[in-house]
Amino acid sequence: MKTIIEPFKIKSVEPIYFTNKEERAEILQNAGFNPFLIDAEKIIIDLLTDSGTSAMSAKQWAGIMDGDESYAGSKSFFRFEKTVRELTKKKFIIPTHQGRAAEKILFSVLGGKGKYFPNNTHFDTTRANVEFSGAEAVDFLNEIGKHPEIIADFKGNMDVEALEKFIKEKGSENIPLAMITVTNNSGGGQPVSMQNIKETKAVCNKYGIPLFLDACRFAENAYFIKTREKGYENKSVKEIAQEMFSFADGVTMSAKKDALVNIGGFLALNNENLAMNCRNLLIVTEGFPTYGGLAGRDLEAIAQGLDEILDENYLKYRIRSIEYLGNKLTEQGIPILEPPGGHAIYLDAKRFAPHIPQNQYPGQSIVCELYLEGGVRSVEIGSVMFGKYDENGNLISPAMELVRLAFPRRVYTQSHVDYLAEVIAEVYQNRNNLKGYEITYEAPILRHFTARFKPIER
Ligand code: F0G
Repeated sequence: MKTIIEPFKIKSVEPIYFTNKEERAEILQNAGFNPFLIDAEKIIIDLLTDSGTSAMSAKQWAGIMDGDESYAGSKSFFRFEKTVRELTKKKFIIPTHQGRAAEKILFSVLGGKGKYFPNNTHFDTTRANVEFSGAEAVDFLNEIGKHPEIIADFKGNMDVEALEKFIKEKGSENIPLAMITVTNNSGGGQPVSMQNIKETKAVCNKYGIPLFLDACRFAENAYFIKTREKGYENKSVKEIAQEMFSFADGVTMSAKKDALVNIGGFLALNNENLAMNCRNLLIVTEGFPTYGGLAGRDLEAIAQGLDEILDENYLKYRIRSIEYLGNKLTEQGIPILEPPGGHAIYLDAKRFAPHIPQNQYPGQSIVCELYLEGGVRSVEIGSVMFGKYDENGNLISPAMELVRLAFPRRVYTQSHVDYLAEVIAEVYQNRNNLKGYEITYEAPILRHFTARFKPIER
């Protein structure tokens, strides 16, 4: 088989500024050992997130010029609405400025004290918006999804049995909706099978609970279904995506991922009453329902991006480039969450740095070293991001300690990936020198964005 190549040519480029190791040591210290606080110009390869970091196509940029900036009823809105409706088959399409704005509106309307929201795994902003409403966010990831070393096709699947047990226990009247996140970002970018979406929907139907999709990475999920699930090999990714949406009563979306834009999101709903309540709140917090916190040009770019994301040559390259890095790492015995996910490689920090206890943040230690060694920015998804304290102030750690290397879409080439593999290998070879960290400042909510750290000297 021939090499799978980038299915695009580069028309417009941005320079990368290089730093040396000495400079980076100082930069890291000034940033409190938190790469969120490093200036982007001081990064060589930026894998902090795949969100809002995509390269737009020439056609998307043309759409930017063509955007209709009318306050109400702009033609760009109608193009956006038609595209989202065609894909999701939902009646009410509500634009928002990004995914969490859709979440904020949805959970403000449906949440509140005494309510529960089950999910395969909540993303951190989703959880924060549920909890901010006073409700409880509960995860039901299937067992194999919790084991980074197990190779399986659909590690993002919902534990449907546990979900049903929970519904019986809490009462369906206290569960305004259940959600499936595709792909499961916090659990390694792992896909959810169509079978699992169907089974979850069946349980939800039995108890009269609507099912929602957090669809940020719906196209990557659909591509995994095409290549891994029996019966889907001859369907188009678009047909598969439409089938996924057919089991959902509503959708929240961050267009910053699988709509290939730098900003945007939406809510897609079937329930008229819910849509009316959401629109009313939208007007207070986001804007008029035909722009919802976005410019007309952004709506054009989303509509175009939603077409381009379903191009199977693009998806083949996308999934392959993540797998390419994954294979380079596993060949050298570097522990990653397996198999490689759709948008990111996740280093398994517990196996990478077993000498650092969870309360000394092994993932953060690797994140710092990747920056120091090669100017690579990644993010800890473990005790820093999800850690909580018990009543005695002891850290309660999540099950996994991961370091995410998330790939912006259509931005980096194969030689960037080769460089990355070299940097990670270098850090791995010197892993015994990795130090634990302690937190010197933290905010009460979503602390990972602004926390400051210091290394624990041995
Ligand atoms: N849901 C999932 C699964 C996400 O990954 C994100 C964002 C959101 C919701 C919120 O969307 O950022 O547009 O408000 N994830 C980004 C990330 C931030 O880095 O994984 P948003």
